[in-house]
Amino acid sequence: TDSQKNRDEKLLAVCKLLNENVEYYNWVGFYFANHDTKTLHLGPYVGAETDHTVIPFGKGICGQVAESNANFVVPDVKAQDNYIACSLTVKSEIVVPLFVNGVNIGQIDIDSHVIDPFTEADERFLEFVNQEVAKLF
Ligand code: SME
Repeated sequence: TDSQKNRDEKLLAVCKLLNENVEYYNWVGFYFANHDTKTLHLGPYVGAETDHTVIPFGKGICGQVAESNANFVVPDVKAQDNYIACSLTVKSEIVVPLFVNGVNIGQIDIDSHVIDPFTEADERFLEFVNQEVAKLF
């Protein structure tokens, strides 16, 4: 629909803004949950193409956040066993759930090419971004 297209354009603009303005945000994208099939589906993103457009709940960092409803900061992806590698250049990751009316409808996922760049300031900032994004739903 038109409103869906309009929203996706705005989500893509958010991804671009974050990717262009924060040096260590090297891949920025949104995944959205299908609660019936218990899968995450890739939405708008900026960065390298990924094969992981559908991720089952529980799998990888993203899938774990779909179930935990909590931020997940990964300083070093090599130290994670439940991790889905998209690119060998990725060293760290942050995933912050997106809540609409208290329901976890998806998440923002950011990959970085440097080790351990994410601080609590990133968590607070991305929570704020997601609160703004939630208003589009
Ligand atoms: N690394 C993620 C998969 C998505 S890619 O980072 C775009 C994970 O382990 O869930």
